[in-house]
Amino acid sequence: MVSMNKPRVFIIGGGGMVGATTAHALASTETVKDIVLIDVAAELVRGQAADLNHATAYSQGVRVRVGSYEDIGPDDIIVITSGRPRQPGQTRLELQEANEAIIRDVTQRVMASGGPAFIVVVANPVDVMTHVAWETSGLPREWVFGTGTMLDTARLRVTLANALDVAQSDVSAYILGEHGDSSFAALSSATVGGLPLAALPRYRPELVETIEDDIRRTAADIIAAKKSTYFGIANVVVKVVQALGQSDASVLPVSTVLQGEYGLRDVAVSVPSLVSSAGAHPVDGYPLSKLELGQLQHSADVVAAAIRHEG
Ligand SMILES: NC(=O)c1ccc[n+]([C@@H]2O[C@H](COP(=O)([O-])OP(=O)(O)OC[C@H]3O[C@@H](n4cnc5c(N)ncnc54)[C@H](O)[C@@H]3O)[C@@H](O)[C@H]2O)c1
Repeated sequence: MVSMNKPRVFIIGGGGMVGATTAHALASTETVKDIVLIDVAAELVRGQAADLNHATAYSQGVRVRVGSYEDIGPDDIIVITSGRPRQPGQTRLELQEANEAIIRDVTQRVMASGGPAFIVVVANPVDVMTHVAWETSGLPREWVFGTGTMLDTARLRVTLANALDVAQSDVSAYILGEHGDSSFAALSSATVGGLPLAALPRYRPELVETIEDDIRRTAADIIAAKKSTYFGIANVVVKVVQALGQSDASVLPVSTVLQGEYGLRDVAVSVPSLVSSAGAHPVDGYPLSKLELGQLQHSADVVAAAIRHEG
């Protein structure tokens, strides 16, 4: 359990786009006091650390440096972004083979230090990689989890807020399941300031009919246009790290290894979870329609098949 509000964060893959952008977001929001980057690309990560340090000159003394696994201590948070990103036209599951070996290797190295407080997995396919990291680490499932559908949920909230002409902060809605092609928008319980979506004057049924495809297309469009996505996921990690530093939990759709919740077992998918200094605890009982429960089961089947290499 993290004992302080401003923890030290290790970013493994910190030389890459997601890792370095995450370091910048953590430093800019002064969420942490120390950021340690680890990457196999030694020159790249050295350059990123120097550049990031210059970005912190006018903030409250956040330090960024290149480090090694031996420096990891029991209060540290590990963020794993090491792994290949998607190429245009590629699905996240197609990254599995290459990234599974990387995640297993870096998790073993992390654990050789005695083990950190938490491991937050970002590398794709994030649900499968979360299961790999959890299994390899031997840590409780509440301490090893993935960012899951937090980015998809951010995209959902932005899309709904724009379409309904309401403040993003008033939208309470989740994308759940796999962070991938089988994810689904759990809209039967979605609200804006407590109001069901259909009560909003600008609501149209077509909006919910097309929203999942629109969001999936957005992610693919960004990759086609600029090769990778990193600003959104960086702020997702900031939110997760902030939640891990607080005793009051935030409800976030992170990917955890479910152990009976929603009838699912030994598979990592996203459901609303309580995230705090006690880790990530999936909440059983988020109200899902019959259709949505079927979609969650399908998503879990897709991820479980990938975990067993049957995908
Ligand atoms: N979960 C999400 O919502 C989400 C969003 C965006 C990207 N991603 C994923 O994040 C990952 C990183 O994306 P990126 O754009 O930063 O890629 P990138 O290629 O820019 O960075 C990856 C970094 O990992 C490093 N690396 C590779 N193997 C390593 C090892 N064994 N130990 C340490 N470092 C190692 C590489 O040297 C590189 O610097 C990808 O898998 C991508 O799909 C996830």
